Amino acid sequence: MPEALNLAVTIERQLPEELVKFLRLAGEAAQSSGQKLYLVGGVVRDLLLGRPNLDLDLVLEGDAISLARRLAGIGGGKITAHPRFGTASLRWNKWSVDLATARLETYEQPGALPSVKPGSISNDLFRRDFTINAMAIELGSGHYGRLLDIYGGKKDLQRKYVRVLHEKSFIDDATRIWRALRYEQRLDFHLEPDTLRWLGRDLSYLESVSGDRIRHELELALKEESPEKLLRRADELGVLAKLHRSLQVDDGVAGKFEQARQRNVAGVTLTGLYLALLVYSLSRPETEQLIAYLRPRKVTVQMFRDTLALKDKLSMPADKELPDSRLYALLQGFSATAIMAGSLAGDSALVSRRLDRYLGKLRSVKTALSGEDLKKMGVAPGPAIKEILMTLLGARLDGKVTTRQQEEALARRLAR
Ligand code: CTP
Repeated sequence: MPEALNLAVTIERQLPEELVKFLRLAGEAAQSSGQKLYLVGGVVRDLLLGRPNLDLDLVLEGDAISLARRLAGIGGGKITAHPRFGTASLRWNKWSVDLATARLETYEQPGALPSVKPGSISNDLFRRDFTINAMAIELGSGHYGRLLDIYGGKKDLQRKYVRVLHEKSFIDDATRIWRALRYEQRLDFHLEPDTLRWLGRDLSYLESVSGDRIRHELELALKEESPEKLLRRADELGVLAKLHRSLQVDDGVAGKFEQARQRNVAGVTLTGLYLALLVYSLSRPETEQLIAYLRPRKVTVQMFRDTLALKDKLSMPADKELPDSRLYALLQGFSATAIMAGSLAGDSALVSRRLDRYLGKLRSVKTALSGEDLKKMGVAPGPAIKEILMTLLGARLDGKVTTRQQEEALARRLAR
């Protein structure tokens, strides 16, 4: 057998000193009680690729929670333990590390969560999604830094392959279909040919996964650097259609995603904007189906509905003169994300300019006078106050009043 690769120097070079010290210490602590500790998963992959990653996942052949307690005792820090899963996270200063007991997983039913019992490191690596994520680094002092690569992860990194460990992988857990696309696009890799075939074969298992888990995968996909690449691939492979049969990400939509990244508007998150662009071409009933499936947060549901409602409104003739007060009245109450999506995805340059004008300027215009000021001026409390304030705002938006004095004069006239 060839000598296993040792990554001690790579660890030293790529991780901050405090984490390197921690890894040494944790490995020794485990070893002193006769247990083996490993660094596993994404961070091992990224150490080999030279990509930054500070999410340390440790696996212990033994009780991870007691080790976490001992480490907190030695170096300080706070632990959160999950006894049901045999896992703990340890936080100190700005760092956070996850420790898990090595486990053997069996999937009794596709889509359901696996049943779990303690196992060896090779069991633990075998339960993982792809070979490139199924490597470990030993941390015990005798073999500190030694790479454990049972499934050929390193070779697949060199070949730029995303490869599942076995033929049933996507059946066990169809969320891996989305994960595969994430790694493929993020790392600029390819799906290994068998993996690609099994992915296509097992698409229907996406239906066995809860909408909540799929939503989580979608959210992770949208946090990638260029999610449009991933979504186009998802479209091409039939994965996107499993989200909703009418969803489409073509060149046009991909271009909107790119433009979205150039915009920076208060109250609009990039992920939210991507979602709005994704649903833009759906009909209202289709959007409701997607909402029922993914069950997003309330604000996202509202944003979806706003996006569609606004799209209908924007199909009104766009060539007429439109005073700012009218534009304001039209858009007020719609989520900023929906308006931004309308600006990016709509097909009239004039409408886009108007939406941008609202977001950039009009929506933050305020009257100088408040309701209290009006009361002091003698306006009786009640609906009149609101009406006058709205008229004042309209006048300000249209440039008919620009100073407090002018607002006062107008308010007095209106009060009479
Ligand atoms: N994993 C898996 N199957 C899943 C989810 C996770 O096998 N459905 C395994 C993978 O080995 C992965 C590890 O659990 O490396 C940790 O999961 P996660 O944090 O999602 O992946 P990372 O690779 O650490 O993170 P990232 O994708 O952000 O690089």
